[in-house]
Amino acid sequence: MILWLKPFLPFLLLLIKPLSSKPLTFIPRWVPELLLVALLLCQESILHAFDWIQNWSISITQIPYSVPAMPFSNWLFGEDGAADSASKMSILDLPELPLELILGKFSPAELCRMACVSRGLRDRCRSDHLWVRHMSDKWGKVLGEAAIREWELRVASRICFSVDGDGEGVELKGWRMKLSSVWPLSWLKNRMEGGRKPKSPLPADSLISFYQALESGRFSFPAQIFNRENGHTGFLLSCYDAEISYNSSTNKFYARYPPHGKRSSIIEEVPWDRVRATSVTTSAHEFHISDCLSDLRPGDHIEIQWRKNKGFPYGWWYGVVGHSETCDKSERHCCCHRHETIAVEFNHYVPGSRWRTATINWKEHREEGNENDGFYGGIRKLQNKEEISRWIQLWPSRVLE
Ligand SMILES: *[C@@H]1O[C@H](CO)[C@@H](O)[C@H](O)[C@H]1NC(C)=O
Ligand SMILES: *[C@@H]1O[C@H](CO)[C@@H](O)[C@H](O)[C@H]1NC(C)=O
Repeated sequence: MILWLKPFLPFLLLLIKPLSSKPLTFIPRWVPELLLVALLLCQESILHAFDWIQNWSISITQIPYSVPAMPFSNWLFGEDGAADSASKMSILDLPELPLELILGKFSPAELCRMACVSRGLRDRCRSDHLWVRHMSDKWGKVLGEAAIREWELRVASRICFSVDGDGEGVELKGWRMKLSSVWPLSWLKNRMEGGRKPKSPLPADSLISFYQALESGRFSFPAQIFNRENGHTGFLLSCYDAEISYNSSTNKFYARYPPHGKRSSIIEEVPWDRVRATSVTTSAHEFHISDCLSDLRPGDHIEIQWRKNKGFPYGWWYGVVGHSETCDKSERHCCCHRHETIAVEFNHYVPGSRWRTATINWKEHREEGNENDGFYGGIRKLQNKEEISRWIQLWPSRVLE
């Protein structure tokens, strides 16, 4: 009915206007004008309501969260080759800036769903610049340089990787190579045997591909775990290297620690707040060469490598630089920086405990210690307030013997 009336509304208005131009003595002049304004307003609101109903019917059909069926998505998103797309509006017809702003608001899951809708949207939703923020928001704090290097190596090896060495065409092999970076081989094999080519391989070196590998737990990477083994007292206020992978259903990580002497490697489930990116590029079996030793002053927060014996990996232990025994510990007369040694204090141990202090020679810095007290290695000075506060938050509720 509204549809039918819509084209005639302006004519109706025209019909009214000439009538009103003949002055009728018993009707004031302003009445027809008011009528005209009222009619115009009426027309506007009817047209607006019509628009609104149309928009509403679109949004209603969109409510199911799964990807809509093809004919509808053709219509809505202008899939290439849709028969009568010329007269339809698609999201891709939006100007560049608003479209980017809208896609920028989408969560990773929404972007992935949008990418399934049409070819045009697929390329847009997968583009790296949309994923930079998601990568750093979710994984920034746990991905260190070592993890990124490992991913790059994996991508490089995948690109040179062939599923089986038979004499198939180069083109098909290239296609398989790209695909093998995205789906597990068993899945790939099923698809090949079914004779159907998957439509849209993710580019192996894209950020979305990196994000999905992390999210699915398929990519395990080096990181460090605070208070390993569920807060075992022997590891309080330490941070150890581990290989971790994410489990999205528990929102936790599996951490696999390298073998500790004769003990085989241990796997533990850890929450986000006990994970950090690897802090240095030195491996857990190497002595870390420190570049901060001559700058260390009493009160500085540090991490120091320590291991129980030479076959074990190092962990990083939190401590503060203290005054030497001969120093009178006042700020003005402190002469600690003139000594060749630094006193490192571990204040979560009771005074008198053999773990409470360690003396490090900074002029000839090398691994120091013995089989009884373990071996101290390199030192990192903590400059970053956030890093220090993370250690303070982990402070044990009681002092250790
Ligand atoms: C309906 O959607 C079109 C774009 O698709 C928009 O320009 C218009 O403002 C919308 N109308 C209402 C009433 O929301
Ligand atoms: C993730 O955790 C759930 C719940 O404990 C478990 O059922 C699932 O197997 C785990 N996933 C992986 C990949 O280990």
